[in-house]
Amino acid sequence: MVSPARTNQGAMFFMLVLAVSMISSSSCHAQLSSTFYDQTCPNGLTTIRTAIRTAVSKERRMAASLIRLHFHDCFVQGCDASILLIDGGERTAAPNNNSVRGYEVIDNAKAQVEKVCPGVVSCADIVAVAARDASVAVGGPSWAVKLGRRDSTTGNPAQALTDLPGFTDSLPILISHFDKKGLSTRDMVALSGAHTIGQAQCFTFRGRIYSNGTDIDAGFASTRQRGCPSSGGNSNLAPLDLVTPNSFDNNYFKNLMRKKGLLVSDQVLFTGAGGSTDSIVSEYSKTPATFMSDFAAAMINMGDIEPLTGSQGQIRKICSAVN
Ligand code: HEM
Ligand SMILES: *[C@@H]1O[C@H](CO)[C@@H](O)[C@H](O)[C@H]1NC(C)=O
Ligand SMILES: *[C@@H]1O[C@H](CO)[C@@H](O)[C@H](O)[C@H]1NC(C)=O
Repeated sequence: MVSPARTNQGAMFFMLVLAVSMISSSSCHAQLSSTFYDQTCPNGLTTIRTAIRTAVSKERRMAASLIRLHFHDCFVQGCDASILLIDGGERTAAPNNNSVRGYEVIDNAKAQVEKVCPGVVSCADIVAVAARDASVAVGGPSWAVKLGRRDSTTGNPAQALTDLPGFTDSLPILISHFDKKGLSTRDMVALSGAHTIGQAQCFTFRGRIYSNGTDIDAGFASTRQRGCPSSGGNSNLAPLDLVTPNSFDNNYFKNLMRKKGLLVSDQVLFTGAGGSTDSIVSEYSKTPATFMSDFAAAMINMGDIEPLTGSQGQIRKICSAVN
């Protein structure tokens, strides 16, 4: 039998440890942690996973859209769910307008999570977990998502214009966009491998397929021209990976080595003439396991971009609007 006095001593010691750890976590730079919701929302991650699996089984492309949503969130003001705010201005900023998808899937996952633990799990964390679950759902790698991000109360449409890379960017420009967010050139190449799934609209690759350039396979260009006229049809879709557009694999890199990248920003990663990232593309094309593990590591790095933590921001009740 444990005496009441002894129980009290134990409880007091526990409270002291808790108080000390709370003080130290608020005074130091707060860190994300994969166990952040273990006590406060033990079923949260399973609830998100169910919502994402359901959405991807309804529409396979949604996996691609959710991975991209996390990228476009993190590159603008950090991974803070700013992109989800209807009044935040980012949704209609040029790189996102009529292009970024999956908002309603996140809204639904949040609604399910609110049922099991109201007011606990941030939208920014749901977006990060959704990206991981989406990867797994289409055969991509898994990773432990770091958690504890909080949600912003504002969007930043101006930064969406300046900080998101463009589809005609050169290699040095792409490298600098990622470097600005603390991501390495190798991270950039691995993350571009997300283009192994999903679709792009005609206006994003028209210039390349009608360029008569020496950096594009002529047969591939004429195939793509059939679905993307030289004028009109701006929103016609083509797969970013012509081989396996619904499976997360390393075909994207094999395509680049055959001059069959869809976007200019894809093909600049491999020139075949000693470009600085040629060797990384070649490595990923030969060793899929290296691509998978580098992609997972790079997604964790991307998820670390400028999170709001501690008492910053808020935990939104719904993801599309501030509380
Ligand atoms: C390197 C610079 C990048 C550029 C210039 C770029 C550009 C683009 C463009 C233009 C599209 C097509 C959008 C449309 O037509 O509506 C697209 C789609 C996509 N991007 Fe990227 N992207 C880049 C990096 C990334 C990264 C880092 C990720 C994620 C880790 C990513 C994931 C995707 C996915 C999955 C799609 C398909 C989305 C869908 O089908 O809904 N991209 N990207
Ligand atoms: C976004 O696209 C819609 C068409 O769906 C258009 O009416 C609107 O002007 C665009 N917004 C911006 C800010 O360009
Ligand atoms: C590509 O070649 C075609 C056929 O020769 C020509 O009509 C077109 O103007 C060329 N396009 C460019 C961008 O040079």
